[in-house]
Amino acid sequence: EHIKRGTIDSHTVLYGVIGDPIRHSKSPIMLNRAFRESGINGVYTAFHITSESLPAFIAGVRAMGIRGVNVTIPHKLQVMELIDEIDPGARAIGAVNTIVNDNGKLIGYNTDGIGYVRSLKEEAEPNLAGKRIVVIGAGGASRGIVYALLQEKPESVAIANRTVERAEELAESLGGASAGVHAISNDELQRWCGDADIVINTTSVGMYPNVGQSPIEAGWMKPGAVASDLIYNPLRTEFLLQAEAGGCRTHGGLGMFIYQGAYAFEYWTGKVAPVAAMRETVLEALQ
Ligand code: ATR
Repeated sequence: EHIKRGTIDSHTVLYGVIGDPIRHSKSPIMLNRAFRESGINGVYTAFHITSESLPAFIAGVRAMGIRGVNVTIPHKLQVMELIDEIDPGARAIGAVNTIVNDNGKLIGYNTDGIGYVRSLKEEAEPNLAGKRIVVIGAGGASRGIVYALLQEKPESVAIANRTVERAEELAESLGGASAGVHAISNDELQRWCGDADIVINTTSVGMYPNVGQSPIEAGWMKPGAVASDLIYNPLRTEFLLQAEAGGCRTHGGLGMFIYQGAYAFEYWTGKVAPVAAMRETVLEALQ
């Protein structure tokens, strides 16, 4: 009935994304398409919430029974203090990007890292076990991704970063060399890239408007290896274009965005996310 009418009525369940800024977000169009496609009577909007208003917003989630919230910059840490339970993965990553309101109990998850890994497996490399992986960057995105990659039992994950100390801290906090997690210096990056099955850029190097920049030099990776970039503006970064010219396979950042939303949808609704429709909608919106 709802699918046919597509109307908002007195049963409609509320969802949304919070951030500051937020008006650029493609999450509302993606998740509303997912609800329509799946016949779910829900509506998803964007809320511009400042740090000062975050506690009041969370009180509002409880009062209004908002079922699900995505959390983006700058609230992924602060929101952890305001909810009732934190999933072990989100706890280990130290950030929450998805809240499920389970009959009044607010539970925090992090779907960024697992969203990235699902996208990598679906779109580029189905089997990560035993693989040699290089991750460039040691910020918040890198942390979630390295944590999720380690669940797949790769041979090694080597982390390089402009500020080497941050790579060392991240590698150490996720188990260090005995867990196969290495911090490498920028002098060692070329050699590690030459041995790698997968090289992942988690930095903003190459992001619009700096579209000519790449975090590594052309020819460092071996043919057939996977170059993966978290950036999706542009969809094809200089890093990916160079890798492709060198015979590598490539994987862009749009999939991570789609699958982090797909996991959120699945946690909220218990249904398999309509990923193809979600991707189509986001691609249209990026035109
Ligand atoms: P995110 O949540 O996107 O990971 P972040 O936590 O601010 O954001 O981390 C940004 C990452 O991109 C860091 O690894 C940063 O390197 P530093 O730790 O040395 O700052 C990296 N980064 C950003 N701009 C960069 C640049 N111009 N060159 C190299 N690395 C850069």
